Amino acid sequence: MDEQTLSRCEAYATELNAPESEAQSWVRAEMERRGLPMIQVSALEGRLLAVLAATVGARRVLEVGTLGGYSALWLLSLLPEDARLVTLEREPEHAEVAREAFRRAGVADRVRLIEGDARETVERLVDGPPFDLIFVDADKRGYPRYRERAADLLRPGGLLLGDNAFWEGKVADPGDDPDDATRAIMAFNRELADDPRFDAVTIPIRDGLAIARFRG
Ligand code: SAH
Ligand code: DHB
Ligand code: MG
Repeated sequence: MDEQTLSRCEAYATELNAPESEAQSWVRAEMERRGLPMIQVSALEGRLLAVLAATVGARRVLEVGTLGGYSALWLLSLLPEDARLVTLEREPEHAEVAREAFRRAGVADRVRLIEGDARETVERLVDGPPFDLIFVDADKRGYPRYRERAADLLRPGGLLLGDNAFWEGKVADPGDDPDDATRAIMAFNRELADDPRFDAVTIPIRDGLAIARFRG
């Protein structure tokens, strides 16, 4: 399929399967108003996160990189009321938008937003039952460590999802001297592919999504 046809089909599937909630439309408008980076998942990718979360019967979800809460709302969108999301964010202004988004969506009591550097906070998540799904979408240089932590924190049968697995194509065409972020995403993808504890598949949605089932 040529690029234009693919993009029309994406629009078709988005309209078919991924209508946004009012709170999600608010998040995008508020992020734009404040000049925050518009690097949230697409609606179609968000809907995929939602279906995957529901498929593994997720009750405990961890997100690394909240931004304005847009993907968080997708992750929770098909889960029952007793499901809980822990989400990690370093930037206070992003966290502020996300908190307001969770309030507007009526899910504030289901979300624990931990502010601070996820490279530290992810090490402190030790108590409690394991996670059913972990979505990694923060600093790209941290991805290899987040993958290691996912193996500690997931239940057998749980899912590790990694956004930006294609990093705008740089993973397929890194050149002689790729930058640190590209190297890190390539290491994340490679280690996930080679680790016998994971069954991984990387799919071309938006900027690439790594999907990996944790065998345990
Ligand atoms: N998941 C979001 C998008 C996340 S963008 C969505 O799809 O809606 C990446 C986010 O990670 C940004 O908000 C950025 O501030 C945050 N971030 C980057 N490095 C971080 C770190 N070391 N610790 C915590 N958050 C970090
Ligand atoms: C960037 C980060 C993301 O998580 C994303 O989905 C797109 C772009 C970035 O840092 O450029
Ligand atoms: Mg991303």
